[in-house]
Amino acid sequence: MKILVVGSGGREHALCWKVAQSPRVTQLYAAPGNPGMAELAECIPWDGDVAWLADWALSEGIDLTLVGPEAPLVEGIADAFQARGLRIFGPTQKAAMIEGSKAYAKGLMQRLGIPTARHRSFSDPLEALAYLEQVGVPIVVKDSGLAAGKGVTVATELQQARQAVLNILSGPERGEVVIESYLEGPEVTVLALTDGVTIRPLLPSQDHKRLLDGDTGPMTGGMGAICPYPLAPGVLKEVEERILRPLVDGLRAEGIVYRGVVYAGLMLTDEGPMVLEFNARFGDPECQALLPLLETDLVELALAVVEGRLHELEPTWRPMASACVVMAAPGYPDAPHKGLPLRLPPRPPQGVLYFQAGTRRSPQGLVTHGGRVLNVVGLGQDLKEALQRAYAGVEAVEFEHAVFRRDIGRKALW
Ligand code: GLY
Repeated sequence: MKILVVGSGGREHALCWKVAQSPRVTQLYAAPGNPGMAELAECIPWDGDVAWLADWALSEGIDLTLVGPEAPLVEGIADAFQARGLRIFGPTQKAAMIEGSKAYAKGLMQRLGIPTARHRSFSDPLEALAYLEQVGVPIVVKDSGLAAGKGVTVATELQQARQAVLNILSGPERGEVVIESYLEGPEVTVLALTDGVTIRPLLPSQDHKRLLDGDTGPMTGGMGAICPYPLAPGVLKEVEERILRPLVDGLRAEGIVYRGVVYAGLMLTDEGPMVLEFNARFGDPECQALLPLLETDLVELALAVVEGRLHELEPTWRPMASACVVMAAPGYPDAPHKGLPLRLPPRPPQGVLYFQAGTRRSPQGLVTHGGRVLNVVGLGQDLKEALQRAYAGVEAVEFEHAVFRRDIGRKALW
């Protein structure tokens, strides 16, 4: 089969790595890809035009496409491929609204009785500011639209909340803001495959969204992940029954058959798991920690999703733990420094995988080309060993002034 992976980050490098292991694959392509993906796939230059890519896939006879990032999904890449009779793993534009509009997602959760924080949505700044005065802090202010994981402010002071509202609602393209109550508890990610009827939850994982140790510093796209996250017995079942099942069935009842990955970002509160956000794709870096543990052929799973026969397959897992440490460029997330040299060891240390993200190949070798640059994944018999290996993998990389957290997985270890 000819397979195409869409995207250019660490998540997509991990997808290529896993897909390349499938005996079904005869040719692997990536659009636009990155230097790490180029070692596994033929990279197709692509500027983000979904219709162009769908035409290219048709002319090339691509049998299956897997989409990594949210932006093309929200733009309707799945619809463009399906309109040409092409198989694509990823939800349609309407289904991807669960991520494309947080205001829509919150409304949906309310209608379907899915546990989530109380909220109000505003497009008028004065109304939003008045609401803030009324509810006070701590409070969470979210950009309703796509913001690469950086559109959330957890405000402990009113001034900070006001500023976040103004940042989102001022400017020429006035958006929408979601203001929601602050929830407490550990955060966990549950990803699930679904064909719109059957739901297969994958191993739970935990991201680390703040830039610095101790969950301090600015929000980022994610600085590291562990998998599996040790959920208490019964919690995954509860997530499936109270969150994923109502979502998938509720969307279907509204005429939307969701096919792809659902990302449930959850807070484990005293009253049970509550949804912080839904996303329409694999998490990044959760995917990099998750896929090395997946035993089942990802191509078989993706085909089962796309063809509506996921009931035939149950994913199986390697009985191991995994940890991913993200190495970012200095200046991330505001102004990451590009062009800094980066050298990977000729052979990764034992139990280590490197998934590239914001890298570029220059005549001198690899250089930084984005915020999150490299994902270092350690695999071990348990989380402690996985973390030791991930950090040994970090030590083996030459990358001056790299920004990374030294406490990934520490809370879960305790
Ligand atoms: N790691 C957070 C996300 O993928 O949205």
